[in-house]
Amino acid sequence: MEPIRIEVAAAGGAYSVVVGPGSLKTLGHELDARHLGPRRILVSSPTVWALHGSRLRQAGAHRTPILVPDGERSKRLRTVERVHDALIRAKADRSIVIVAVGGGVVGDLVGFAAASYLRGVRIVHVPTTLLAQVDSAIGGKTGVNHGLGKNLIGAFHPPSLVVADPLVLATLPRREFRSGLYEVIKYGVIADPALLDRMGETLPAILARDPQALTPLVAACCRIKAGIVSADERESGLRRVLNFGHTVGHALEAATEYRRFRHGEAIAYGMLAALSIGVTRSVTSPEIYDAVSTLIARLGPLPPVSDVAARAVLSAVGRDKKVVAGTLHFVAATTPGRTTTLTDVSEAELRTALKGLGVRGAAPPRRRATPGRTRAASPRES
Ligand SMILES: NC(=O)c1ccc[n+]([C@@H]2O[C@H](COP(=O)([O-])OP(=O)(O)OC[C@H]3O[C@@H](n4cnc5c(N)ncnc54)[C@H](O)[C@@H]3O)[C@@H](O)[C@H]2O)c1
Ligand SMILES: [Zn+2]
Repeated sequence: MEPIRIEVAAAGGAYSVVVGPGSLKTLGHELDARHLGPRRILVSSPTVWALHGSRLRQAGAHRTPILVPDGERSKRLRTVERVHDALIRAKADRSIVIVAVGGGVVGDLVGFAAASYLRGVRIVHVPTTLLAQVDSAIGGKTGVNHGLGKNLIGAFHPPSLVVADPLVLATLPRREFRSGLYEVIKYGVIADPALLDRMGETLPAILARDPQALTPLVAACCRIKAGIVSADERESGLRRVLNFGHTVGHALEAATEYRRFRHGEAIAYGMLAALSIGVTRSVTSPEIYDAVSTLIARLGPLPPVSDVAARAVLSAVGRDKKVVAGTLHFVAATTPGRTTTLTDVSEAELRTALKGLGVRGAAPPRRRATPGRTRAASPRES
């Protein structure tokens, strides 16, 4: 299968996203062809390196990589400093090309290490989770968490190249893989209804991680994200559609201290909430609600929400980055592939939607209040 190449426009220069089974093995050629070298340093995690390091060695990566611990807890300034230490010891100068091989955690933190080392050196992303392939590796958002909030420290630093090999997804734990699939559903809702149809038709092959089914799926999502970030690199408006399902999704993650859900699982709930608010208002066509809820159900059970307190979820919505100057910008679906932004979603509507998900204590209160009027607190995630 020939690799699929997608171009992304960025202020600092366009870059390509290459999606193809086996592209990990040919990474060396891709880098050579774009003069991304000769000095390269790989950064990965022990898990990913143990599973896929041999293929990268075949691609000419003989030098020992810098390994950073896995997991969201590792996405912090101390780990960035460790990467910097290793780069300084390796006498890396401004000609260095850093190759980040891993999930969104590795991509975000190594991206920020590259953005800040010598005021910015080149980075190539080799995303190895479905979420990283369809989302985090594209667009140039990099960063780490702070003790007081997620992704609070960061920089825009677009990569020089992204190489996504669907074959590496074969080793992904089932839950991580499914978590990425919910973001694929999101792309279908916001931009490409045919993607939802294709997903429905080929779900068994997708779940079996068949590269023939996965490659066009990953490429379709990369194309959508590439189109959106090319038009709106710094999130002035258009990029906001990527937040579909993320108002309630992020709030569920925050209310459960990022322990209960994989990101995509929370987004699955968030999409259902956004769709039900839209259907109740007659903004969203019921057919999208049906298509999405059917697909989500076919992917299997989500972690429970019945013991999550509605109050905690609503208070997290009020602190969200999508509250701009006191107004909540809520992305709703309209017809398949199209969205609109609602700026008047009330607390009562959110409560009704949370109740529909089964969140505890979500029955609408007697008095009406608008979280959209809540003062914005610290910024939140991408
Ligand atoms: N920069 C952005 O635009 C953006 C967008 C969305 C999410 N993010 C960030 O991405 C992060 C989440 O990324 P994620 O979901 O990829 O999680 P992750 O990076 O934590 O990876 C999940 C797990 O999968 C393992 N893994 C990775 N590749 C594997 C493979 N091929 N086989 C087996 N195991 C593998 C990892 O070791 C890890 O344990 C969050 O920190 C989030 O904030 C960033
Ligand atoms: Zn997301």
